[in-house]
Amino acid sequence: MSTFKAVRVSQDGAKATSSALVDTTVDELSAGDVVIASRFASINYKDALAVTGRGRIMTRFPCIAGIDVAGVVESSADARFKAGDPVFVNGFGLGVAHDGGFSERVRVPADWVIPVPQGMTLLDVGTMGVAGFTAALAIHLMELNGLAPGNGKVLVNGATGGCGSIGIDMLARRGYQVVALTGKPESRDYLMELGASEVLVRGEFEMGRKPLEKSQFAGALDSVGGEQLSWLTRSMMENGVIGAFGNAGGVDLATSVFPFILRGVRLIGVNSNATMAVRQQVWGRVSTDLKPRHLDRVGFPIALDQVIEHCTRSVDGKVQGRAIVHYG
Ligand SMILES: NC(=O)c1ccc[n+]([C@@H]2O[C@H](COP(=O)([O-])OP(=O)(O)OC[C@H]3O[C@@H](n4cnc5c(N)ncnc54)[C@H](OP(=O)(O)O)[C@@H]3O)[C@@H](O)[C@H]2O)c1
Repeated sequence: MSTFKAVRVSQDGAKATSSALVDTTVDELSAGDVVIASRFASINYKDALAVTGRGRIMTRFPCIAGIDVAGVVESSADARFKAGDPVFVNGFGLGVAHDGGFSERVRVPADWVIPVPQGMTLLDVGTMGVAGFTAALAIHLMELNGLAPGNGKVLVNGATGGCGSIGIDMLARRGYQVVALTGKPESRDYLMELGASEVLVRGEFEMGRKPLEKSQFAGALDSVGGEQLSWLTRSMMENGVIGAFGNAGGVDLATSVFPFILRGVRLIGVNSNATMAVRQQVWGRVSTDLKPRHLDRVGFPIALDQVIEHCTRSVDGKVQGRAIVHYG
């Protein structure tokens, strides 16, 4: 059986984790009825935590990392898929408990596999990855909770990250007025090109401490948590909607009930591991009314043997956009 390369995370007796580029075979991969030849896999914050060992992400060791993959079906024991189909997989434990996308081949149950939506390429879907899907799901849920273009400004924090960049792109396309919040003043032009109409830089303004601050935003996409999410709850307009999915800046939330009971603020939790019905609905929107216009600006290619080094830069918040592993 032919061997191929993958990034595998292991744990030693003292529970220290380490990652290495290894040779493996399809027979060694987690079980499934569809074998996919990988074309693209993105580096998400969660991958960076898993590969560097800075977060307890893996629930099984050893395990190949990579929480998403876009590729072409190589073989399928399930009649819904045939060799050559372009597909995408994320969630269900991929890259956490089931060998993941940082591998030239991936084997998964057919129930996890999503056909690439019409009008999108494998590279589009691979660049979206979990981050882009999560931003789209957040916008979808926020709109179900009353957000609409014309309600007011929408703030996107962690703006240069994967969720943030693609979130800005999709919101601008939908006609929202987007305010980007970043720690990287040098990324101002990038954020404006994606569609932000205003850029705020962390550290250049005061996030006040009052129970209710100046009411500014009709919506907010939160990648960061901690102090920034706390400030956002206090800074929303009446009936403002926050989609909260991230913890890149912390896990605490210090606020009071006032934003909720006096301004009707809605704090919506977003988990990308959605049901298949919701995934299909959201991917349908990603390929139509939310379709990002600047994925080529957001994604940049790296090779599989650069994943480990890149994850360290990513977990330190030093990356602009999304690193996409391009397979040969
Ligand atoms: N709930 C879910 O299902 C789900 C799904 C996907 C992602 N997430 C979460 O969403 C967040 C963003 O994911 P991502 O893949 O977009 O990550 P990413 O590409 O690594 O971007 C994270 C961005 O957060 C900003 N940031 C702010 N404070 C930071 C800090 N103290 N350390 C590091 N970064 C900081 C940085 O952008 P700026 O400098 O521009 O602020 C950074 O680029 C992560 O917490 C991830 O776990 C959750």
